Amino acid sequence: MTPLYDVLKEYAQKKPARFHMPGHKGAFLPVPELMGAAMLDVTELPPTGNLYEAGEPFDTAQRLWAQRFGFEACQFLTGGSTMGIHTALALLCKPGESVLIDRNCHRAAFNALALLDLEPVYLQRPWLQKFGMIGPIDPENVEKKLKENPNIKTVCITSPTYSGVLSDISTIGRIVHEHGGKLFVDGAHGAHLPFLGEDAFAGADAVVVSAHKTLPALGQTALLFVNGIDPDMIRLRASLYGTSSPSYPLMASLDGARQWLEDGGEDGYRKTTLRVAALRKKYPCLEEGLRLDPTRLTLCVKDGPTFTKMMEQRNIYPEMEDGGHVVLICTPQDLEENFDRLEEVLEELRPDMGSCPPLPPPPMPKRVCSVRKALFAESERLPLRQCEGRIAACQVAPYPPGVPVVAPGEVISKKELAYFGQIGYNTELEVRVVTSL
Ligand SMILES: Cc1ncc(COP(=O)(O)O)c(C=O)c1O
Repeated sequence: MTPLYDVLKEYAQKKPARFHMPGHKGAFLPVPELMGAAMLDVTELPPTGNLYEAGEPFDTAQRLWAQRFGFEACQFLTGGSTMGIHTALALLCKPGESVLIDRNCHRAAFNALALLDLEPVYLQRPWLQKFGMIGPIDPENVEKKLKENPNIKTVCITSPTYSGVLSDISTIGRIVHEHGGKLFVDGAHGAHLPFLGEDAFAGADAVVVSAHKTLPALGQTALLFVNGIDPDMIRLRASLYGTSSPSYPLMASLDGARQWLEDGGEDGYRKTTLRVAALRKKYPCLEEGLRLDPTRLTLCVKDGPTFTKMMEQRNIYPEMEDGGHVVLICTPQDLEENFDRLEEVLEELRPDMGSCPPLPPPPMPKRVCSVRKALFAESERLPLRQCEGRIAACQVAPYPPGVPVVAPGEVISKKELAYFGQIGYNTELEVRVVTSL
């Protein structure tokens, strides 16, 4: 069933006189490759519904997704998981409240702290020396922090991470609920996991996934799943952050992706996991002793930037590198022949694989004011290397993964500058620092 896609097709097939937005009228776009999408690119009309109001076709299209994820409600998003993180925190927190938040969260979560003036209490992840990277969230640490901060009612964590590391959501959810709180999971990288039978999100009160990252869906598409909140309130909060003209082709691609998965696409992900498992056995990879997304291939390499460059020179483009690892997103849309090419290249580059010299975990900077105060303060732009002792007015976050090493309101000290040097971050790049609070 593709209720949204169906009404869009029916409307286009009627060849209506489209005296409404968008201005291309489904008839002309100067970029011819986009014409197929233009046919479906309409506005809110009686048959096409309104994303931010109850009614068809959205009620059914979103309910079908919610059922697949085992949640009560689903909200389509056309602003990526970024929009979902903002919406979820606006649903679960009141402005000014404190939130227990994974320090490894994406920059979008830090922007939400500023927009909602939330007070962060950070959850640090354990450093895994063996892999030279951070591990999953420790549930005992969640419990400890909640005992120390009994006022906290919202916990926000990322799972899986960019590298595919999964945290134990059901245990963490149970702990959060025992303390009377709610758990929000940024599952941006895990939209495919429930289709693999992975118990990745059960126990959370809200989860956002980027359909566009791992499913055959258009860029910017994401899905927010929520339990225990009136769908009308979910729509209201989502509309705070979304355009009032959400793209119908984007949303139709969400409808189509779900149906495709149910029609056998799921099996494709199973095949992908087999291919990834074989590669993990053959080459140094993140694997042993960690619960991982079975489709994510995180290679351990001696020098991430150089290794990535060598792959790109051979026409293979990974998703990201972080110094000692190169991350590849694998889906059923990666052709067998491309996996074969990847394997040939990995064979050739085998001498450059293995553990990198251990990189230190990022330091925890000193915090002097709220994220909101610093982000909206008077500020100036300076090369990062000149910012010792200054308060950041922006996030200093190598992208990807987009996890801030220094958040707004924190001091950039010698320690942080040394860390940026060690990870090879260009400290000539300008950042914004506070001039007056
Ligand atoms: C963990 C995580 N959360 C959220 C986002 C933002 O997702 P989107 O690009 O769908 O807005 C990203 C993007 O890379 C991410 O890595």
